[in-house]
Parts: sequence; C-alpha cells; structure tokens
Amino acid sequence: MSITILGIESSCDDTSAAVIRDGVMLSNVIAGQAVHEAYGGVVPELASRAHQQNIIPVVTEAIKRAGIDRSELSAIAFTRGPGLMGSLLVGTSFSKGLALSLHIPMIEVNHLQAHVLAHFIKEHPEDDHQPAFPFLCLLVSGGNSQIIKVDSYNKMEVIGQTIDDAAGEAFDKCAKVMGLGYPGGPVVNRLANEGNPKAFKFSKPHIPGLNYSFSGLKTSFLYTLRDKLAENADFIEENKADLCASLQATVVDILMDKLRKASQETGIKEIAVAGGVSANSGLRDAFEDHARRYGWNVFLPQFAFTTDNAAMVAITGYYKYLDRLFCPMDAVPFSRVEI
Ligand code: KG4
Repeated sequence: MSITILGIESSCDDTSAAVIRDGVMLSNVIAGQAVHEAYGGVVPELASRAHQQNIIPVVTEAIKRAGIDRSELSAIAFTRGPGLMGSLLVGTSFSKGLALSLHIPMIEVNHLQAHVLAHFIKEHPEDDHQPAFPFLCLLVSGGNSQIIKVDSYNKMEVIGQTIDDAAGEAFDKCAKVMGLGYPGGPVVNRLANEGNPKAFKFSKPHIPGLNYSFSGLKTSFLYTLRDKLAENADFIEENKADLCASLQATVVDILMDKLRKASQETGIKEIAVAGGVSANSGLRDAFEDHARRYGWNVFLPQFAFTTDNAAMVAITGYYKYLDRLFCPMDAVPFSRVEI
C-alpha cells in the first residue's frame, strides 16, 4: 500500500505544505511573507500572524495540486523545531487538528534533519541521484553552519559547527553594513559575480577541530570598511562588487577548508550541501572543483529545496514513517533543538 505524507513547515517566515507519496513529490506549495521586508529582518510576531492567515490556503492548495483526497493521507509530518516559537506553534497546532480529524498519526520533524534529507526528494519515480550512506552534509543557512555525518535517514551526527555566527549571518550582516538590504546573501552573490575575489583580504579563523567561526571575518570586514571610508566617503559604492567577491571567496574558503578536513578524517568522499547558503554560486563552484580535485561525489540541492520548504519535511516524515517513528498528540514545539 502507498504511503502518503503531508508535510507542514512553519519554522520561520515561509508557510509551506507538501505531499509526498512513496518518496515522490506530488506537490510543494510555499507562501512567503513580504511583510518583513520593511523591517530588514523577520519580525517574529508578524511571522506567526502571517502563518495563521496562510496555513489553510497553503495546505488546501498542496492537497489539490497533489491530486489526492485528504482521506488518502497516511500521516502528517510537521516541523517541531528549531525555529521561532510563535511560527512553530501555528504549524504544530494545525497539524494536531488535522491529524485528529483524519485519525492519522503525527510525525515530528527536526528542521535541520529535513534540510539534509531534502537530497532524497524524488520529483519523478525514476530519480536516483541520491547520496549513499554514510555521507557528509555541509548544512549552511542563516542560523546554522554544521558538518553532519549522515549514517542513515534517521541517524546523523554533528561533527563540526559554528561557535558563533552562521555563514548566512556573515553574508547578511556584511551586506547590511554595505546597505544592500535583507537578506543580503543573494545580493552579495549577484554582485560577487562581477567582482575580483582577490581585491581585499579578510581574516580567517584559526580554531582547532572541525568547528567554524565567522565573527572574526565580520569584524575584519567592518574594520576594512571603517578605515577605507575614512579616506574615501564613496569607498563602498566604488568597490561594492570587489568587496562582495572577496567576502564570498573568504566565506567559501572557510567552509571548504573544514569540510576537506572532515572528509580526510572520516575517509568519506560522498559530500552534500544543504540550507539557504547552498544556493551560493561560489560555494557550488567550490563543490564542483573539489569533486574534480579530490574525487568527491558531490550533491547540490535544487534551488527550490535550498530554502525552507515542506517537501523536505514530508520526505523526512516518510522515512520516519517507515521506521514507525510517530509522536504523541501532546508534542510541543522546540525553539532550539540539536539534530
Ligand atoms: O536556510 P535558510 O533559507 O533559512 C534560515 O536559515 O532562516 O537560509 C537563509 C540564509 C540567509 O542568510 C541568506 O542570506 C542565505 O541563506 N542565502 C545566501 C544565498 N541565498 C540565500 N547566501 C549566499 N548566497 C546566496 N545565493
């Protein structure tokens, strides 16, 4: 019998619902929230209100586009955390109501695990470009920079992580001081394509092991701007592309240095990347380059699955369903939770 999972994602500022049947995606609907643009960042209270407005239309649309009746659902997978508490509460409460009314089980999903398992979403039944276990996954987003060793769908271990800022945060904060808006990562990426990555040198961390640090880079970037602006008030405007290219090259170098180390230490050459920053073209080029130079078998997610989406929640739910990993109806969200 087919297993059909409805996934619901509401951890931050995207309301999303998706249907996956036997590992194959039937629909994936995402409603963003333009309301935050005016504030230069996500406003938690506004995010939870927008989720309240979006959740019913988004779920209805996902079921409609999947071409199924909701009575065909086997279980509901929802993001339990980490994320913004008010936002998570909307998805969690909605999932409980729907699961109760349909008499089907609920499956809690860790948002970080879901980013990793996005690599297993099949858009067509014959899709088979998927990492083999064990593999390493670099998870890079606005809130996380981690190297994860993935032993199976439901067994993964963080072997390195940031001790301060995340890679996406470094992009966003540096972009903000250049007046590039929020989120700055995609803008930095676009400008970097026109700049010289060797124009400026920013400091790189020297910390042992597989952990990351991005706060030193941020400070070094700020000090460079401060010193140069003292000499020339138009410095940022005149050097935007070179600043972005140099910043991006430094972030990518920092990420790849530790990932190479992790690959050497574990002997694993099956390497994936996930999370919002995996959309970065400099990082994608570095992955392709490492595949050629070090014989890595690399896995880059489709752009649609780099940012928050419910298809990744549904696929995680599918593999938890196979292991009968259900959760009780009194489950509450977690704003912070490890993999
Ligand atoms: O995983 P994600 O969608 O959500 C959160 O972590 O909340 O990641 C968002 C992050 C932001 O910091 C954004 O600036 C960054 O991913 N990002 C990028 C690019 N696209 C998104 N950073 C660099 N280059 C990009 N092309």
